[in-house]
Amino acid sequence: MRACACVTEHRQTDRQTASWEKVSTSVKGAGAVATIIALSVVYSQEKAKNNPTSPTDAPATDAPATDAPTTDTPTVTTPAPSNEPWDKYRLPKSLVPEHYNVTLWPRLTPDETGLYVFTGDSSVQFNCTEDTDLILIHSNKLNYFKHAGHLAVLTSVSPGVEAPAIRSSWLQPETQYLVLQLHSKLLKNHRYQLWTNFTGELADDLGGFYRSEYMEDGQKKVVATTQMQPTDARKAFPCFDEPAMKAFFDITLIHDRGTVALSNGREKESTNVTRDGWEVQQTVFETTEKMSTYLLAFIVSEFGYIGNMTDNVLIRIFARKPAIDAGQGDYALNKTGTILKFFEQYYSSEYPLPKSDQIALPDFNAGAMENWGLITYRETALLYDEKFSSNGNKERIATIIAHELAHMWFGNLVTLRWWNDLWLNEGFASYVEYLGAHEAEPDWNVKDLIVLNDVHRVFAVDALASSHPLSSREVDIQKPAQISELFDAISYSKGASVLRMLSDFLTEDVFKEGLKTYLKEFAFGNAVYTDLWKHLQTAVDANASAVGLKDSVEDIMNTWVLQMGFPVVTINTTTGALSQKHFLLDPDSIVTALSPYNYEWIVPIRWMMNGAKPQEPYWLRKKSATHDAMKTSQWLLANLDVVGYYRVNYDDENWNRLVDALNTDHKVIPVINRAQLVDDTFNLARAKIIPTVLALRTTEYLNKERDYMPWSSAIGNLDFFYLMFDRSEVYGPMQKYLQRKVTDLFYHYGNLTDTWKTVPDKHMDQYNQVNAISLACRTGLDECQTLVKNWFKQWMTSKKNTIHANLRSTVYCNAIAAGGAEEWQFAWEQFENATIASEAEKLRSALACTKQPWLLNRYLEYTLDPDRIRKQDATSTIVYIANNVVGQPLAWDFVRDRWSYIFSEYGGGSFSFSNLINGVTKRFSTEFELKQLKQFKEENSDVGFGSGTLAVDQSIERTIANMKWIADNKQSVLEWFHSAVNR
Ligand code: BES
Ligand code: ZN
Repeated sequence: MRACACVTEHRQTDRQTASWEKVSTSVKGAGAVATIIALSVVYSQEKAKNNPTSPTDAPATDAPATDAPTTDTPTVTTPAPSNEPWDKYRLPKSLVPEHYNVTLWPRLTPDETGLYVFTGDSSVQFNCTEDTDLILIHSNKLNYFKHAGHLAVLTSVSPGVEAPAIRSSWLQPETQYLVLQLHSKLLKNHRYQLWTNFTGELADDLGGFYRSEYMEDGQKKVVATTQMQPTDARKAFPCFDEPAMKAFFDITLIHDRGTVALSNGREKESTNVTRDGWEVQQTVFETTEKMSTYLLAFIVSEFGYIGNMTDNVLIRIFARKPAIDAGQGDYALNKTGTILKFFEQYYSSEYPLPKSDQIALPDFNAGAMENWGLITYRETALLYDEKFSSNGNKERIATIIAHELAHMWFGNLVTLRWWNDLWLNEGFASYVEYLGAHEAEPDWNVKDLIVLNDVHRVFAVDALASSHPLSSREVDIQKPAQISELFDAISYSKGASVLRMLSDFLTEDVFKEGLKTYLKEFAFGNAVYTDLWKHLQTAVDANASAVGLKDSVEDIMNTWVLQMGFPVVTINTTTGALSQKHFLLDPDSIVTALSPYNYEWIVPIRWMMNGAKPQEPYWLRKKSATHDAMKTSQWLLANLDVVGYYRVNYDDENWNRLVDALNTDHKVIPVINRAQLVDDTFNLARAKIIPTVLALRTTEYLNKERDYMPWSSAIGNLDFFYLMFDRSEVYGPMQKYLQRKVTDLFYHYGNLTDTWKTVPDKHMDQYNQVNAISLACRTGLDECQTLVKNWFKQWMTSKKNTIHANLRSTVYCNAIAAGGAEEWQFAWEQFENATIASEAEKLRSALACTKQPWLLNRYLEYTLDPDRIRKQDATSTIVYIANNVVGQPLAWDFVRDRWSYIFSEYGGGSFSFSNLINGVTKRFSTEFELKQLKQFKEENSDVGFGSGTLAVDQSIERTIANMKWIADNKQSVLEWFHSAVNR
């Protein structure tokens, strides 16, 4: 995503001339001259009375030329008052686009100035719904050819109606518009057409129409590809770039003969043509369905593909030829049909397109993008190779395919009207991706993992006073940077969590019923999130007896959607009293945000007592209530399977009973709730609601635990202890304690796998085997360290890698941590020569594990050298380094030092800035670090933090909480570990 439109906007202003000079120089080249002539021919066909003209850049003025239609440079008048329509970020509603014809020609070789460019022409037919003499259409970083002194040509489509003449035209970089003022008005209920031709740079900036590069057989190959969401379609061609401005698109791509051109529609015809003296190929695509601009995609490559027909849908997987030849697309191809069919049933709606292409790109900012009919992925998210890919890589591929395919209906067929509702789009896909992946791999129990990956993950940020509600108001989201900020853990993971809760209390059938009618009503159109509530309510009403809700869907969901945070529900089993309270990680933090519900939620509580569970949830509607059925002297467990988005606290007696249950027969507690008990207690302790010692007691049974989820939950929480204590005297006893806990698990997997020769059968066991090795090695277990060192050494000497793909990440990391420059260098060479991205990824992360500061510093330098580390991977590599106790201060210094450069060059990346800031600061726990952080915020206030803005405040809040936590807990934790290891 374009994380920081504000900076690119600044750059745009000073690049205006510079980049134009480059383009205009290129005009002197034969090819470019030919281009202009050709474009002029097209133009003259459109409007014969104008003369072909040479392109000129629009002046970089803030003010419009009021009356300068004939001069090349419109006159600059007084500075624009900020209230003009072109100073507003939202389009006026007077013009409604209906149909575009877009031809684009990306050049995969640089021009004589070394610049990669694309040229294009585009016409858009629109309906006028209100008389107006102004046309605003989005355009960013495009240079227009002039016709009769103007940047566009306007014609009428309605018979008998003349198009008004253009009075002036200019570009408005700040709001990213091409502006046309007319001499007279466009008339209501008439149709017009706007035609432009233009050039743009095919830069390596991962946004809009951009270029990706890779090496094949010693040769550099270039791919032209797109990433439009949220606001970069306007960087490829002028368009009404808002999600509700849906239209039909006729796309044509011009490309070198022998290359493959792809777009959202099926290829209609591909012919050899001569364009501007170049012998090229022209591929015309079928008209798209009515769709939003952010879902468009245009790609030209030399890729190979595999495909099949599943129920009349053409399914294809595209990737670099060697990757396709090696079978790396096979897994994705095998699973796509299954998942697509699953969603057809889930939504009761046929897949709306005749084809579904998916393509793996060497350079891609997000993980994947749901362009309608042409989904784009980073390579690690689509390509699978049994020899190189771990079970985790495989799961990611299955879930990400499911996520993007889910969007084909939810998001693409029915689109939210404006970006403020993004959380519903992404949250929904992030929930049902688990359902789709479960269909593809029914033996994995993958649906359980939403608790670790989403619920627990987002609890950590949503427990801060600097969090924010899921829903934003439409008027508050205007600028591209504000839109980009919405792609955060709240939208994705909290969205997914509350929708899962909703689907649970409505029952899946009712949820599906509501979805079905919602999709039907708004197909090819737009909706707001309350429209979904309406349809779900209708489904509830039709099944009232089965669901038995006392409150409306809207009333319940408002409490989760309109206020930030979540409650901790306290249950007193001696009295049957329940209460709820806004859960704050730092109880002293001050919540300034007012909530319309006063931080009270309508909470569905699924619970059980000593193994027996009621069918219906208990609803906690107020701050407090009493439920006599919860009065008990046996153990009571609430929030079964963590379906509810809240934490649970109990009276001391019940806590003791639960801890006893873990210690005597942990399996009486469902596996997800064992993970919950650990996560809830550790976090309640951090919030000073229960003593830390109680949290530590939930780990005592772990030597008997074999399941993945509780172990992962424990490791995640103990990771915080490592972060806080690995530079203090707590470290020793803590290591000793954890080694004791993990040793059994380590040997368990040794036995299960014939002394590490095989891997366990089950997906979750495979994951937990990795947990066992990483924690055993981390705690210094000799056998573990010897094992991984030997494996790695064997690889170094024999040049044959026999390490199982599942174990590679942890083995590489531990071996590199234990080794020196030789190991590092070997791994670096393997990284550079890796033929599959998932192997490169494992090495890239392991390279950050070295304990040698000079290697880490050099590696940090590499992260900003795109020839060594791809731009898409830069910020995550810095975060890997910061995860290392030795690397953390180096990474922090590095990021502080280079912030403005990183910010301007690495503005993309779906979550990159927030991840980067959170990553380099998560260990912070001292006054000094807090001071540095505040200083960092201040010093860079002019540069800004883009999508990381919130992360800066969250980091400050977290640092303060950490400081207090250490002061309060260090002594008791130290004593507890001491006594636990001496027991
Ligand atoms: N629509 C997003 C991709 C995206 C993210 C575009 C940010 C622009 C800005 C896509 O559907 C998505 O959510 N991708 C996720 C993967 C998913 C499995 C969570 C991603 O890219 O990480
Ligand atoms: Zn998504």
